[in-house]
Amino acid sequence: NYYNYPKLMAEIKKFKTIGVVGSGQMGSGIAQLAATYGFDVWLLDTDPEALSRATKSISSSIQRLVSKGQLSQDVRKDALERLQYTSNVENFCSADIIIEAIVESEDVKKKLFLQLDKIAKRSAILASNTSSISITRLASATSRPHQVIGMHFMNPPPIMKLVEIVRGADTSDETFDITKALAERFGKTVICSRDYAGFVVNRILMPMINEAFYALYTGVATKEDIDAGMKLGTNHPMGPLELADFIGLDICLSILRVLHAGLGDNKYAPCPILVQYVDAGRLGRKRGIGVYEYRQTPESPKK
Ligand code: NAI
Repeated sequence: NYYNYPKLMAEIKKFKTIGVVGSGQMGSGIAQLAATYGFDVWLLDTDPEALSRATKSISSSIQRLVSKGQLSQDVRKDALERLQYTSNVENFCSADIIIEAIVESEDVKKKLFLQLDKIAKRSAILASNTSSISITRLASATSRPHQVIGMHFMNPPPIMKLVEIVRGADTSDETFDITKALAERFGKTVICSRDYAGFVVNRILMPMINEAFYALYTGVATKEDIDAGMKLGTNHPMGPLELADFIGLDICLSILRVLHAGLGDNKYAPCPILVQYVDAGRLGRKRGIGVYEYRQTPESPKK
């Protein structure tokens, strides 16, 4: 496996257009990141309300970076012009890479990959931002498994420094090298994971979050004390329950189910209280209520 950096950067320079599917927390962040790095971006969602929320959140997020002096006004203007919103997958026909960030469901993602494979140009890479689902199985829905890869950004994508790249059984060296170079072009540090449920980050993070729910469920401590314990006691910037609200409780539950099914160990069984919160629609910050309640523009959990 070669890694010729100048050659790969030249390859990335040929990339003009990036398609992003799913305009939720992750998709909108990835689209924003790509636009601020000079790519033309199509952001697609099947839900028009999600697209309209993404338009507002991207614009205010870029503005925040300008106010902090991290982006210039020129980059802001250019990025906003480069972003286009759509609900028509045909708009992806010119994309050099399509990054999928829709709901964490293997069936739904497979259907989408089948569709993307039909409309994407032959050379295009199909990447998934999945937190835990097998890249090999997503790739099997396409006629180009060597061009399918996991490109797992962290939340929020414009800020977090890591991209976890996951190679499926058939992912080619070229696809891996180009995807890695693209992540580095975005200023990210890359780690590489083999295609096992949850990869590296969620294999380790989700059992901790689940254990925090069990501590809450069994009455070990209050939610505030569980979070304060992990923040002040282990120097985590957010407590595990607060972090679960930030990620989305539905996403945490889906990942735990993938870990449980894929690794076959009961230690990954989702805590009943997490299941119940999701059943109740308490999905975390994005819904204004999860473990904690949030105000309209939440900065921190309501006490
Ligand atoms: P989200 O719930 O905020 O957004 C998902 C979006 O996908 C929604 O707007 C929904 O309308 C749209 N969607 C669903 N099915 C679709 C389809 N067939 N075609 C087009 N759009 C569709 O979810 P979030 O948090 O952005 O997660 C997306 C993906 O990113 C998941 O695979 C998740 O595991 C992964 N991820 C999530 C992280 C997090 O912290 N939330 C971190 C890293 C990865």
